[in-house]
Amino acid sequence: MALFLDSAEPEAIRAAMPLGIFAGVTTNPALLSRIPLADQLEHLGEIARLCRKTLYLQAHGSSVEELERHASLLYEVAPGRTVIKLPMGREGLLACQALRARGVPVCLTALFSPLQVAAAALAGAHSAALYVGRVSARGEDGVAVAAQSRRVLSALHSSTRLLCASVKDPPTLLSLLEIPDADVTIPPTLQEALLSHPGTAEALEAFRAAARSRPPATP
Ligand code: G3P
Repeated sequence: MALFLDSAEPEAIRAAMPLGIFAGVTTNPALLSRIPLADQLEHLGEIARLCRKTLYLQAHGSSVEELERHASLLYEVAPGRTVIKLPMGREGLLACQALRARGVPVCLTALFSPLQVAAAALAGAHSAALYVGRVSARGEDGVAVAAQSRRVLSALHSSTRLLCASVKDPPTLLSLLEIPDADVTIPPTLQEALLSHPGTAEALEAFRAAARSRPPATP
C-alpha cells in the first residue's frame, strides 16, 4: 500500500513530503486550474523539486496525438519517476498503448467501476485511479466498488495498481486502508486525521504539565 498527496499546491507539498508518509504526489487539471497554461510546466517543475518521489501528472487533449504530445512534455518534468494519467476512454486507451511502447507508465483515471479497472489492467496500465468519493456521490458504495476492483485485479493476476482517489473523509480513508494492496491518494485536508487525535492532544498536555511541575535541578 502506498499513500499519495493529491495536490498541486507547492506549500502543501513542501509541508507534507518531509513527514515521510507519502510515496509521492498526484495532480490533475482541476488542481492546476489556477495556474495559467503557459506556466504549468514550470509549476510542475517546482512540484518535482519539492517531491523527489513518484509524480502522477495528467495529460489532456481531445485526440490521441494531443494526449501523447502533452504526455511527452509532462514526462520530461521528472523522467523515470513520473506516471502519466490519461482519462479513461478510447483515446486514453490508444494513447496508453503508444506511451507504454515507449516505456512510459500510465495511470488510467476518472474510473467509476470495476469493469473500467479491468480494462485498465488488460491494457497494461501501471495503475487505475478509481474516484471513490464520486462513486459514493452517485449513490453506490465507493469503498465496496474499490474492494471489488481490487479483487478483480487479483483475479486477473494483474500488476496494475489500484489508486483510490477522490477520498473525502477519514472513515472512507480508513476503510480504503483495509483493502489489501490498494494505494490511496488524499487531499492535504485529510492529513490531520493521520497525525492528530484528541487523546494525543490530552496526553501531550499531561506530559507538558508533568515537565512544568518537575522540581528544579539541585546545583
Ligand atoms: O485526483 C483526482 C481525484 O482525487 C479527484 O478528486 O475531489 O475532485 O473528486 P475530487
